[in-house]
Amino acid sequence: MADYLDTVEHRPVFPSIEPGSVRPLFPASPPERPESLDAILDDYRRLIEPNATHWQHPGFLAYFATTASGPGILGEMLTAALGQNAMLWRTSPIGTELEEVVVNWLRQALGLPDGFDGLLTDTASTSSLIALAAAREAAGLDVAVQGLAGREGLPGLRVYASTEAHSSIEKACMTLGLGRGSLVRVPADEQFAMRPEALGAAIAADRAAGLRPIAVVATLGTTSSTSIDPIAAIADIAEREGLWLHVDAAYAGVVAMLPERRAPFAGWERADSIVVNPHKWLFTPLDASLLLTRRMPDLRAAFSLVPEYLRTLDRETPVRDYNEYTPQLGRRFRALKIWIQLRWFGLDGLRRRIARHLELAQAFASWVDADPDWERLAPVPFSTVCFRWNPGGRSLEDADLDARNAEIMDAVNRTGEVFLSHTRLAGRFTIRLAIGNLRTEERHVERAWVLLREAAAA
Ligand SMILES: Cc1ncc(COP(=O)(O)O)c(C=O)c1O
Repeated sequence: MADYLDTVEHRPVFPSIEPGSVRPLFPASPPERPESLDAILDDYRRLIEPNATHWQHPGFLAYFATTASGPGILGEMLTAALGQNAMLWRTSPIGTELEEVVVNWLRQALGLPDGFDGLLTDTASTSSLIALAAAREAAGLDVAVQGLAGREGLPGLRVYASTEAHSSIEKACMTLGLGRGSLVRVPADEQFAMRPEALGAAIAADRAAGLRPIAVVATLGTTSSTSIDPIAAIADIAEREGLWLHVDAAYAGVVAMLPERRAPFAGWERADSIVVNPHKWLFTPLDASLLLTRRMPDLRAAFSLVPEYLRTLDRETPVRDYNEYTPQLGRRFRALKIWIQLRWFGLDGLRRRIARHLELAQAFASWVDADPDWERLAPVPFSTVCFRWNPGGRSLEDADLDARNAEIMDAVNRTGEVFLSHTRLAGRFTIRLAIGNLRTEERHVERAWVLLREAAAA
C-alpha cells in the first residue's frame, strides 16, 4: 500500500486500455487449490494496479475527487480486522455509539444546530433515498404498510428539484415507487441555480391539478457546475407548503466547515435532512456519506421492522439500533475511519486543505479568464472550474466547438498526467476541472493548464 501511494503519481491516471481487455487476463474458472500469497500479490501488481483508474493520483481532476487518506486507510484496515456489523447496538456497541459521536462531531464542524441527528451510509444516493423515503412516510400516506400500487384515491405524488440536481434524486424516485415522472425539474437561472419563483409556481400548478407535493430537494454544489440553489428562499417555500426539505450538499457541504465561507449555506439549518459526503472532499476512503436530519422518527417510520431474531430481550434502557433507519440490515463500521481522520488532521488541518483547493480553483479560473482563446462557462463558488476552448476572433459554430473541446479533453487525458471529465452547460460541451484530491498541489493544476493549451494548439 505504501509503495503504491509512493509511486501513484508516476502512473497514468487513466490506463491506456480498451474495454474488454482486462477480463481475458484472468482464468475463466476459480482455482481449485490454494495459491501462495506471493503468487497472488505478484498478480495483484501485474493485473490489478495497472488496470485501475488512479483516484489517488494528484492529477485526478475529473468528476469529484475521492481520496483515501493515510489515516483513512488505517481506519479501513482496523475496520476490516474488527469485523463489526453495526446493525444493532448489541452487535456492535462501539460501532453504534462511535457513529453517534462522529455524526455529532461532523454536525458541529459544519456549524449546524444540535437539533440535527443522523447516521452514516454508503453513498449520497442512499442518503437521499432514505431522506425521500422519510418524506414519503411523513406525508401521512402509510406507504410503508400499504405501498403505492393499486391504491384507489391516492393522488400522484410530486418531488421538486432543479434541472441541475443529481441523477440520484431521480433514481430515488424510481426506487421508491414514485416513478421518474414524479420528479418535477424546476428551471434554473443563468447561473444554474434553482428559480424559487418557478418552484412556487410548479407547486401551485400541481396542487391545482390534484397532485400531492411531498418534498423539495435543494442542491448546494451541483454536480455539473457546482451551482448553489437559493436555500433560504427555497426553505421559505417548503415551510409555507408543508413539504420536506432535503439538501444535497454531497460535494460542497464540507466548505461549511470554514466559518468565513458559510454564507451560501445560510438557511440550510432549516432543512429536514442534509447529505454531505466525507468520501468526496473530506479525504475519507469510499464509502462514507453523512445523512443529517431533524426528523429521525420519520426515518424510523419508513424503515423500522424488527423480527423476533433481531429483538434484544434483556435490555432495559432503549438503545439505538441503526438498521431501523435504513433499507439494509448489515452495516459497516464507518465511524472508525472518520474518527481516526478527524483526530489525525484536526478540523484545522481539514479546513486548511479545503481552503487550499478553493484557492487553486480560483487561480485556474483566473488563467482561463486571462486567455482570449478560452472561456469560463460558470461561476466558481467552490473548487471546480467549468470552461472551454473558444478562440477569440474566430467565430466557430457551437457543434464545432463541442467536437474540438471533446478532442482537447481526450488528448489531455491520453497523456496520463492528469484526468479531466466533462458535462454540458446550456447545451454546450464543457470541460470540468475539479480539485479535491488530498495530494493535488499547484504544480498539478498548472500542468493541466499547460497540457490543455498544448492540446488546443495541436
Ligand atoms: C451533488 C451530488 N449529489 C449526489 C451524488 C452522488 O454521490 P454518491 O456517489 O455518493 O451516491 C453526487 C456525485 O457526484 C453529487 O455530485
